[in-house]
Amino acid sequence: MKTCLSELAMFGSQPAFAAPLYVGRPHTGQRERLFERISEVLDRRWLSNNGPAVTELEARLAQRLGVRHCLMMCNGTIALEVALRATGITGEVIVPSLTFVATVHAVSWLGLTPVFCDVDPETHNLDPRRVEALISPRTTGIIGVHLWGRPCAVEALAGIAERHRLSLIFDAAHALGCTWRGQQIGRFGRAEVFSLHATKFFHTVEGGAITTNDDALANRIRMMRNFGFAESGDVVEHGTNAKMNEFSAAMGLTLLEAWDSLIEHNRQQFERYQTALGGLAGVRLVEHEPGEERNYQYVVLEIDPIQAGLTRDELLAVLESENIFARRYFYPGCHRAQPYLARQSSAPPELPVTEQLVERVLCLPAGAAIGAGDAQRVSAIIRLALSQASAVRQRLAERAPVGATRARAAVSLAPGLVDV
Ligand SMILES: Cc1ncc(COP(=O)(O)O)c(C=O)c1O
Repeated sequence: MKTCLSELAMFGSQPAFAAPLYVGRPHTGQRERLFERISEVLDRRWLSNNGPAVTELEARLAQRLGVRHCLMMCNGTIALEVALRATGITGEVIVPSLTFVATVHAVSWLGLTPVFCDVDPETHNLDPRRVEALISPRTTGIIGVHLWGRPCAVEALAGIAERHRLSLIFDAAHALGCTWRGQQIGRFGRAEVFSLHATKFFHTVEGGAITTNDDALANRIRMMRNFGFAESGDVVEHGTNAKMNEFSAAMGLTLLEAWDSLIEHNRQQFERYQTALGGLAGVRLVEHEPGEERNYQYVVLEIDPIQAGLTRDELLAVLESENIFARRYFYPGCHRAQPYLARQSSAPPELPVTEQLVERVLCLPAGAAIGAGDAQRVSAIIRLALSQASAVRQRLAERAPVGATRARAAVSLAPGLVDV
């Protein structure tokens, strides 16, 4: 545990971690069970096209979430596109800018217009009061993102959607295993969309799922993900290839057996950070509503630069020099990503809360990325850096930027880290 300034790597000491610590390191489950399942898949020679492993995973997840339909998809981004298309959304779609860019790309990829809405400073989710003000005659849909797995203001958004006859769907990429008012995420809106990418606590390597209680919508999605084929063999819908393969489903079924222990591991890590960072001025650990279930996948800090004495980016640089690759999700906000910036003909959207959060949010390595004692060691470095903020700031100003550049390059090249 580092306790004095000279022990920090930026002052010449060895980094706290010999091997880099990343945010999104995948769980791999019980290897023997996975290999058994893969062997069964190979024996069956049924590798894709709605095979038995996919069907079993759909049934098990639907049961776990308490929803009528769970449709496995090739990934979360395409799943969003299919959900948007199947719900008949056209024209403008209200979305948060504080989200992974896939939410917005899915809208834009279909030729729809994303309309960026600000978020609530407490929950980091769509602020319903601001949603209503953005509705125009061209608006037909809203996508709420349960960011960090913390559920959106579900009832308020549903009320707005009903009053204005809009389709409400949720990007639940982060929210598998989380509840809202005691009900599993997956049952809300017209449909909810999960990412099952390797960085998620429960994954299928690449994969996604759409859940809905609407039988007709489920049927449409089923056809759309399979080139528009109906059971009769006729092509009756526009379609794409969004199917999940059997190997992915084998990984999903294997991790399903470890579900409780994965969440328990995440919870323990989260609580270690919570204890170790408690009471630190200028550092807020983003919490969920008490009493709800959650997957504890993300450990998200908000750094107030005035109270903390360092900016989020300064703290990030300190951590990088210690081989701790925290992430600044979702900097600089989707509205500032090139394709969306270029489209803004008039004034940029007014997103004061988002603008502040993208400068303050720091996501720490968690879950499978860290082992016993790591949360305390990371937290000790944060405490130490903030307690000596002016010396740290001065040192950062003196340092050549080469180290930081190299470190960032390493992060973007590391497997599984570009996605969230
Ligand atoms: C909020 C959000 N939406 C959508 C996606 C896209 O999911 P996928 O990577 O499975 O395509 C992600 C990625 O993880 C995400 O974080």
